[in-house]
Amino acid sequence: MSAGLSVRDVDVRELMDDPHADERMLARTYGRFAFVNALVSRPGLIYRRDIRPRAVAAARPLRILDIGTGGGDLCRFLAGRLRHEGLAAEITALDVDERAIRWAVAHDRGAGVTYRAALSTALVDAGETFDVVLSNHVLHHLDERDLQTVLDDSRRLLAPGGLAAHHDIARGRLPYALFSAATWPLSRNLLAESFIRVDGLLSIRRSFTVAELAAIAPRGWQVRGGAPFRIELRWEADGARS
Ligand SMILES: C[S@@+](CC[C@H](N)C(=O)[O-])C[C@H]1O[C@@H](n2cnc3c(N)ncnc32)[C@H](O)[C@@H]1O
Repeated sequence: MSAGLSVRDVDVRELMDDPHADERMLARTYGRFAFVNALVSRPGLIYRRDIRPRAVAAARPLRILDIGTGGGDLCRFLAGRLRHEGLAAEITALDVDERAIRWAVAHDRGAGVTYRAALSTALVDAGETFDVVLSNHVLHHLDERDLQTVLDDSRRLLAPGGLAAHHDIARGRLPYALFSAATWPLSRNLLAESFIRVDGLLSIRRSFTVAELAAIAPRGWQVRGGAPFRIELRWEADGARS
């Protein structure tokens, strides 16, 4: 890896996290997450592998929590697929940033997702439980303490037999170069006046490698790599591993 990517660059901050970030650019960023996630986050695989089988088997609506939902597109995608197949679910989209939740509420478009501006600890304190706890592109945002808190909370929030799966991009020269090349031509049109390109590159610099995440993962969590340059930190009850 190049000098800049051989270690996590935890000192860089994504522009969207700035409380004074330009509101119009922030809104366009939330609005473009669906496009980026469709390309890199494999929401269809998450649905087929982790959501659909549980929704089919559940005797009641499947309870899903997305931590750090941003614009909420993963939740709306899952809600749409579940509804299309006649499968019942209650989906909660959580973000610590009220600006994200305001944007997501305004763009729910009938998906029926519940949006909440809170930390996962508030849900633990309230005694809430879920069958599946997810996140996408959140791990790299967190400092060491917040990461451990989110992982502890994820487990505490799981109903018996539940699954926690935190998805992110893996750091590396190739994903950095590919993201840079792919987003460059879009930076004057589709991604113009958004933080997607700059923050995406900063995110990769802050992200983990599989080995780094495995080294700090608490006991019982599994780290998996996947294409394209994906990383997943996963916890599921013994006997329910897939
Ligand atoms: C890069 S965005 C990812 C948004 C979305 N999950 C996606 O994949 O497009 C990271 C989001 O995580 C949120 N976030 C960061 N730390 C958080 C925490 N401790 N609890 C909840 N949300 C958090 C940020 O506010 C931001 O909206």
